[in-house]
Amino acid sequence: MRVHVVTMFPGWFDGPLGTSIGARAIEDGVVEVVIHDLREHGVGRHRQLDDAPFGGGPGMVMMVEPLSRALTPLAHTHRVLFTPSGRPMDQSTLDRWSAMAEVTLVCGRYEGVDQRVIDHLIDEEVSLGDYVLAGGEVAAAAAIEGVTRLLPGVVGNPESVRHESFRDGLLEEPVYTRPAVFGDWAVPEVLLSGDHARIEDWRREQRLKRTRDRRPDLLGDGTG
Ligand code: ADE
Repeated sequence: MRVHVVTMFPGWFDGPLGTSIGARAIEDGVVEVVIHDLREHGVGRHRQLDDAPFGGGPGMVMMVEPLSRALTPLAHTHRVLFTPSGRPMDQSTLDRWSAMAEVTLVCGRYEGVDQRVIDHLIDEEVSLGDYVLAGGEVAAAAAIEGVTRLLPGVVGNPESVRHESFRDGLLEEPVYTRPAVFGDWAVPEVLLSGDHARIEDWRREQRLKRTRDRRPDLLGDGTG
């Protein structure tokens, strides 16, 4: 899979791409990440990228020309713009992208992007959540990490990808490891019982309890 990132801050990605799961996947050739420096497509001597909004108002707007130059050669890819005005990114978004050969992640900055870019050069607008960041870089890094770990061969045990939170629409149950007792903190007895049917019942109950408590919206059955 190839992921293009269009950003005003190419150096920002050195950290996220240089460590952990991302670095290994890149090294192994499972995913290729191509960073495109938007500044190279800036307008005029100052390589301008943004300008004041028509109609007045605060803030600056990312201009059509630099984004058009950056995105026209990427027209064959699925182009995503990160913006707080987008649809929220969730596991199904990442599943969908992970099945694509080539995706372009565009990091918006400032107060917005000229709507003509969105109308003609963007396939999908996506938000990381209901809060405002300075730009789309954090969202793009989150997307790259979430998509990469779905690709075959990246996560050691494919079961851990298949059986995780959000797959069955529930949060994960609590987990424990040795020692069975630490001071007066003991692991729930059922987990030490060796009774696999009881353990499965307990885990399902815990997933439901947690989801009801923290994310009733995920149950969507009106009990929340
Ligand atoms: N840019 C600024 N805020 C954002 C958000 N919440 N999601 C995606 N991109 C953003």
